[in-house]
Amino acid sequence: MRCVVANWKMNLTSDEAKAFCEDLLGRFAPGAGTEAGIAPPFTLLHQVSGLVRSKGIQVFGQNGHAEPKGAFTGEVSMPQLRDAGCSGVILGHSERRQLFGETDAALAKKVKAAWQWDLLPLLCIGETLEQRDAGQTLEALGQQLSILAETGPGPLWVAYEPVWAIGTGRRAEAAQVREAHAFIRTELQRHLAGTEYQVPILYGGSVTPENFPELLGIPEVAGGLVGGASLDSRKFAELVRQAG
Ligand code: G3P
Repeated sequence: MRCVVANWKMNLTSDEAKAFCEDLLGRFAPGAGTEAGIAPPFTLLHQVSGLVRSKGIQVFGQNGHAEPKGAFTGEVSMPQLRDAGCSGVILGHSERRQLFGETDAALAKKVKAAWQWDLLPLLCIGETLEQRDAGQTLEALGQQLSILAETGPGPLWVAYEPVWAIGTGRRAEAAQVREAHAFIRTELQRHLAGTEYQVPILYGGSVTPENFPELLGIPEVAGGLVGGASLDSRKFAELVRQAG
């Protein structure tokens, strides 16, 4: 199965989201076995899910709190994401880890909460430039995946997003992607041994329609988590078409 998910981050207003969805649906033609998803900001979840869910496009939250409700000003819970039309939630994006201090311990709780509310976690992992330069890439990825020892098995998508490749226009090289994805696959097999879960591993970091076909040719690359290029409906439709 191939998956392409648009991570809009903190972009677009409701008028812009409407125009995006209408244009996308005019072009949208997923291949058999291709899953497409959009992760809008919280304010646009209801609107976007109303426009695209019936067309087979999944909607993801960009984050979710581990507690179902309570005094957590500024947060949104997993049941609220479901209520807004989400079928999944991005967890552990490097921007959340770096700018908002999200820890692996907190993420383990969030993954479990997502499962409890029947949301598919899209877990993001990736090394910083310092870790890569220090030869610690695989160690960092192994550490971030080790939360699965605590959560136990469950349905999951993983996105490998090297932090230094996000929003920089500097995509990871094929050999780097191949090595990271092969390692992630091995770790997932270890954590999920004996279970039925098939986990697609997406690549994220400066994905464009120009470089996506090459990425899709790398073993264990099951699709993309796309930031900048996903704000253009024409480009996102093309990425979905390429994955088909
Ligand atoms: O989650 C997707 C993202 O972090 C990659 O962003 O702009 O490099 O495609 P971008």
